Amino acid sequence: VNGKIVIPVVVNVLYRTAAENISDAQIQSQIDVLNKDYTATNSDFKSIPSEFSGVAADIGITFELVNTIRKSTTKTSWGTRDAMKNSKKGGINPTSPTTTLNIWACTIGGGILGYAQFPGGSLATDGVVIDSFYFGSSSAASYPYNLGRTASHEVGHWMNLRHIWGDASCGDDLVSDTPVHKTANFGVPTYPYVSVCLPTHNEMTMNYMDYTDDRGMYMFTNGQKARMSALFVSGGARAGF
Ligand code: ARG
Ligand code: ZN
Ligand code: CA
Repeated sequence: VNGKIVIPVVVNVLYRTAAENISDAQIQSQIDVLNKDYTATNSDFKSIPSEFSGVAADIGITFELVNTIRKSTTKTSWGTRDAMKNSKKGGINPTSPTTTLNIWACTIGGGILGYAQFPGGSLATDGVVIDSFYFGSSSAASYPYNLGRTASHEVGHWMNLRHIWGDASCGDDLVSDTPVHKTANFGVPTYPYVSVCLPTHNEMTMNYMDYTDDRGMYMFTNGQKARMSALFVSGGARAGF
């Protein structure tokens, strides 16, 4: 990369119903949310408790929609085993995955909002999948996951971030400036949310890598930024960008 990181994005829409054929405006609303959340220009950034404001990061990465590909399907749900990324399975193959973030919008099923592939995996399945009904911040998206934060979270995984609770009880997310969390938090916890993990501290429930409602998540940290930025330097897993 040379200076600022701009991520070209292709959105792959798979639809059976008209509602699943999400509008260009809904797609752009998602790009807009990513641009805000990854540059700390989201309107709720000011809600960060002062305890955490010192580690709150402007990731300095922006996103540019370069194409939208639409395909009709008879499938009612796509699951989480990457069929939507494979034209032989009725899906849409990724476009130029070494230089493009591919996002698939489709009905996943099973109550899954979205899922992502970490860096270093197969190029044929690289990218993130966001359920059509939790895509973007338009009125077509479903409360309480209607502010486009499913993609902010999944793109975090795509950029090598772990869940803040480390997928274990009081686990490790490999980031030193995020506090230890007991487990995933849901809804919108009231601050201060005192952890049961010791030593006594407050959990950073407003981090994008927790599981709260969309309106409850509005920050990344400097340590998370360091993990993401490392991917884009020479020799990094996403150096093609
Ligand atoms: N992978 C998570 C799931 O499908 C995404 C959670 C996103 N959280 C959110 N508030 N949008 O459950
Ligand atoms: Zn996740
Ligand atoms: Ca941590």
